[in-house]
Amino acid sequence: MDIYRIKGGKKLKGEVSISGAKNAALPIIVASLLAEGETVLKNVPDLMDIKTIIKVIEYLGAKCDFDTAKNTLKIRVNSLRNAEVPYDLVKTMRASVYVMGPLLARCGEADVSLPGGCAIGERPIDIHLSGFEAMGATIDIEHGYIKARAERLAGAQFPMRQVSVGATANLMMGAVLAKGTTILENCAMEPDIVDLGNFMVKMGAKIKGLGTERITIEGVKKLSPASHNIMPDRIEAGTYLLAGAITRGDVAITKAAPGDIEALTAALGDIGFSIDKTKDTVRIRPGKVLAGTIVRTLPHPGFPTDLQAPMMALMTTLPGISVIMETIFENRFTHVGELRRMGADVTLEGNVAVVRGVRRLTSATVMMSDLRAGAALVLAALAAENGTEIRRIYHSDRGYEKLSEKLSALGADIIREEGGKP
Ligand code: UD1
Repeated sequence: MDIYRIKGGKKLKGEVSISGAKNAALPIIVASLLAEGETVLKNVPDLMDIKTIIKVIEYLGAKCDFDTAKNTLKIRVNSLRNAEVPYDLVKTMRASVYVMGPLLARCGEADVSLPGGCAIGERPIDIHLSGFEAMGATIDIEHGYIKARAERLAGAQFPMRQVSVGATANLMMGAVLAKGTTILENCAMEPDIVDLGNFMVKMGAKIKGLGTERITIEGVKKLSPASHNIMPDRIEAGTYLLAGAITRGDVAITKAAPGDIEALTAALGDIGFSIDKTKDTVRIRPGKVLAGTIVRTLPHPGFPTDLQAPMMALMTTLPGISVIMETIFENRFTHVGELRRMGADVTLEGNVAVVRGVRRLTSATVMMSDLRAGAALVLAALAAENGTEIRRIYHSDRGYEKLSEKLSALGADIIREEGGKP
């Protein structure tokens, strides 16, 4: 298993170009199943999660050609078959349940393994399932598999009991080919959902209210394949701004969408960093005085839970006290133990973390427990004294394209080594 060796203390400097958004690309790749013919997707990030979702749709009958050098994915769909999507694929990536929408819409049946819990909490999919039930599907759970059936999904009004990115995407993909009009309420307003919606509109779907809490979809009989450019990854963008911040460097992210990360740039501004934006770039530099801050994770446009762990890494280096309230996932503090091993002073009380800034983080051997917790450790290592060894870096391969290359180009001392200890 590969490891990272990072020698901290270098101020990062320069420009880094942001890749396509993983969380937009995943549902968009799945949505290509809704039409027969060839879909061409550009700016698709070369990530493990993308390779997993490609395997999933190939399993269902799609033919894929992923040119990773050009970040272009061609997907050819003829007939689609409801083959049970196996546990081994679903357990590595929960977004595999996205295939329910297109399978139900096109085959009238979907057999998908129940994802189960993961490192950051229980993560149920009850909202996905009750939404499909509201649209006329019958759902049975047998031997760990969801068996959903519906001759043709029917439009329905469905208020989600809680904002869910995954359920919003899944139900939208079912509704575009349903009979009649679907009104989804309490929808996720994440930019990734808007990108998915825009892609399906290009395919011929009739969708109104994207980016709002209420999305109305008038079902159509057939969709046609389309071409699409995946939006920039706002979580990757935020992570590089935080890398600039934690090293007190001067970093500009390019090919980004500054409007999608305003909760983060506002928090960085409050801390005392100077932030300069253009249409598609953001530059961060340290201000004269930095101070701790308070962050509460919320659905978009609030502060994203996916940047909570990287933000905590920065907070461990700020003067004074900072506070994080995690309101989206019940167990998203697995990075805290590892940050403490690097000298961080963090106290946990339920879903609240109190972070007291320390003069300097120190090096240690640490282990990634999930994708974003992994990003937090990389950031902490960039600021720590001496060399840090980070294990289980396959977690960051799921969501950060060319992480070590991009950080090296900014002046970081980071090496990826093959064959470290697990
Ligand atoms: C997506 C993102 C993930 C991000 C999360 C929250 C993808 C592939 N992943 O995950 O990076 O951290 O949004 O922004 O886009 N919930 C239920 N029942 C459901 C569905 C969700 O109780 O049926 C709960 C979850 O346990 C969680 C909250 O709702 O507490 C939000 O989850 P959700 O928005 O669905 O997250 P994902 O789509 O899994």
